[in-house]
Amino acid sequence: MGKAKLKEAIDLTREVLGVPAEYRIGIVPASDTGAMEMAMWSLLGERPVEMLAWESFGAGWVTDVVKQLKLDARVHEAPYGEIVDMTALDYDRDVVFTWNGTTSGVRVPSGDVIPADRDGLTFCDATSAAFAQDLPWGKLDVTTFSWQKVMGGEAAHGMLILSPRAVARLESYTPPWPLPKIFRLTKGGKLIEGVFEGATINTPSMLCVEDYLFALKWGQSIGGLDALRARADANAAAIWAFCEDRDWIGNLAVDPATRSNTSVCLTFTDPRITDGAVFAKAVAKRLEAEGVALDIGAYRDAPPGLRIWCGATVETSDIEAMLPWLDWAFAIEIAALTEAA
Ligand SMILES: Cc1ncc(COP(=O)(O)O)c(C=O)c1O
Repeated sequence: MGKAKLKEAIDLTREVLGVPAEYRIGIVPASDTGAMEMAMWSLLGERPVEMLAWESFGAGWVTDVVKQLKLDARVHEAPYGEIVDMTALDYDRDVVFTWNGTTSGVRVPSGDVIPADRDGLTFCDATSAAFAQDLPWGKLDVTTFSWQKVMGGEAAHGMLILSPRAVARLESYTPPWPLPKIFRLTKGGKLIEGVFEGATINTPSMLCVEDYLFALKWGQSIGGLDALRARADANAAAIWAFCEDRDWIGNLAVDPATRSNTSVCLTFTDPRITDGAVFAKAVAKRLEAEGVALDIGAYRDAPPGLRIWCGATVETSDIEAMLPWLDWAFAIEIAALTEAA
């Protein structure tokens, strides 16, 4: 019964995301972090690595690879609001990157730059992109995400999606470091197929599984991936239009092609603002106190500003109802600043 539910979650994930039949989909421990670390610890080390980071989560994977695994890695970093030039990478190495920078509001615009005939594997942390953006499966060998992001499910388990080439690596290469049971995907040099059929490595939360199933069925009922993506697009577009009409607020994403439609990150650009962090915090606090928006301050490591979640579970009418309050809070805070000056 429990295993059938897990298998249903795998099958529905495949259906909604359009994952090719020959790709494995597994439910693994410890959310997106668990899935990414399990993949890196199980697959990396066979060849040099290109590590890409444009915000805090990607930076975390760099730390894993450089400081913990101590691999031969070339690190490519872009400041918050930008992404790395992905045309300048060696795809015969393994490449590890985040599709959508949740804390910086940028995303990879497309997978076109990734060559189909690469020798290395691509590792894509797709949390906050899966179910809202196009993931080009043919260009991705390892893809991970968690349930609590675009589908709004309960946080618990990670999703690990492997291409046939990733499976071939697992079955032909054994990393030189020890692997705890919780990371092990092979036994006797063979893939543990059960993990990809609902036989999880350790005990899963069936409450969380039910919640994910509910979210997936809701996604299907409104029209599947296209509809989910359209909802995120409409939410983000409402905020972008708001910013275009004002000269005091703008998108943190420098290149419009890289603007995220899920985690929209904004900065205050009014030259009268002397301390951006204090100003942004005051605006976010005002909106929270009025019951208008919760927790919309920028992520703690990101440049000061606002981060407004626009994933598919958010109604565009709610975003539109919130935006005039931003005008209101900005006006009060800027008046207080100019009075004090
Ligand atoms: C891009 C990205 N990677 C990793 C994580 C960590 O995810 P989890 O808490 O599911 O492990 C997040 C969480 O927001 C994220 O946005």
